[in-house]
Amino acid sequence: VEEHLIGAKIKVFYGTFIDTPFIGKLRVRQHTAVGVNENGTIVFIKENCESPDIALLEYNPDININDNVEFINKQCEKEYSTFFFPGFIDTHIHASQYPNSGIFGNTTLLDWLTKYTFPLEASLKDLSIAHKVYTKVVERTLSNGTTTAAYYTTIDPESTKLMAKICSERGQRALIGKVCMDRNSPDTYQESTHESLESSDEVIAYIRNTLKDPKILPILTPRFAPTCSCELMKGLSKLAQSYDNLHIQTHLSENLKEIDWVKELFPDCSSYTDVYYKYGLLTNKTILAHCVHLSNPEIELIKTAGAGVAHCPIANTSLSSGECHVRKLIDEGVNVGLGTDVSGGFSSSILVTARQAHLVSRHLSMKFEDEVDKDHMKLSVVDALYLGTQGGANVLNMGDKLGTFDVGKKFDSQLININSEYDPVDIFHWQVPSENNDSFTMEEIISKWFFNGDDRNTINVWVDGSQIL
Ligand code: GUN
Ligand code: FE
Repeated sequence: VEEHLIGAKIKVFYGTFIDTPFIGKLRVRQHTAVGVNENGTIVFIKENCESPDIALLEYNPDININDNVEFINKQCEKEYSTFFFPGFIDTHIHASQYPNSGIFGNTTLLDWLTKYTFPLEASLKDLSIAHKVYTKVVERTLSNGTTTAAYYTTIDPESTKLMAKICSERGQRALIGKVCMDRNSPDTYQESTHESLESSDEVIAYIRNTLKDPKILPILTPRFAPTCSCELMKGLSKLAQSYDNLHIQTHLSENLKEIDWVKELFPDCSSYTDVYYKYGLLTNKTILAHCVHLSNPEIELIKTAGAGVAHCPIANTSLSSGECHVRKLIDEGVNVGLGTDVSGGFSSSILVTARQAHLVSRHLSMKFEDEVDKDHMKLSVVDALYLGTQGGANVLNMGDKLGTFDVGKKFDSQLININSEYDPVDIFHWQVPSENNDSFTMEEIISKWFFNGDDRNTINVWVDGSQIL
């Protein structure tokens, strides 16, 4: 036995593990043992083993089972009633906008921002309000199985630091971004270029030097080109580089009026995407929310940079922005994940967002004449679940650490139960008793969970191997 294994503590999860290693692929592994070390990293996976002890002793024959091992779900009684699924990854969510979830009326992006969004964000400067809102958001996303989220807060650095602290204490993996906007903002909600850069730096320093939680990362957050001066964007690009290629998040090509406005504001740039490219914000760690109306050269720019797209189907429909051409982006080799975009999106659940991605793709398909195209545009249940897990991990440039159950990855997981008392999926009540009890295939069970499931089905959540729900 290798030296580092002696005395090491290990957790062994046992049961059915379901994940989506690539688009279109549903992987189901039953009677499987997954070993997780003290760092929360998966160290072994053994399929089709009768008991988790067998897998463990194969990994480390000398392990002290009584003192150093914790078994989770060892007695998984019913074959299909529970399964582990990778934690969801929300690549775009405004924590500060949570109180407005469900409130948008008939507005479209630009009047929605001035009517609902800027006033709400300004009010979170009050730390007691921010504390309430941010605590609730983290609680809600966790209960819906989100183990990693890329959050926008507000322009205020103090409450942004509070959000980072709340995520860390609660145990969620998070990227935390103070919003930067130094022009075209209301008087009650604005900052200077200097303030924006200084307070961004202050938040980074807090997260890195004071909080020091490896699960919490800073992310630079120029809101979108219309509210950011060239100096601000250039400054943020420099800041990203000075900290060894920090993550960046922004909005891109969401709404036609917004796109026209960007053309007016940046006459020297050939496209909206070109603005971010020119000012050094298009990197392999950039998350671009929406991307509804991109031209082919813009898709090419994004692909070449290795940036990722946060597909936000609920917000794109609610604010009548349009339908993002997800299949085309994927075919072109662009990384795509899902974003709830609270509160442009009304739900903080990635499961609900995946469901809407599925429906939006069908609306998009109806615009195509050719039957083959029509079919190709549609995202399957499995495709949409991929976007909510491994797809999102790729967008965050963490595809080798998150998104599936594989050796070397972090154990970020939810345990799904589809046979609970208040179960909205309601499978087993209808199952005809039969000898082998297999009225539904695994694909059908996943599909029933996908369309009918909610937080009542997510009974436990782990991040980095630690149970936090
Ligand atoms: N564009 C600029 N800011 C925002 C925002 O807060 N939400 C959405 N959906 N789009 C934006
Ligand atoms: Fe957004």
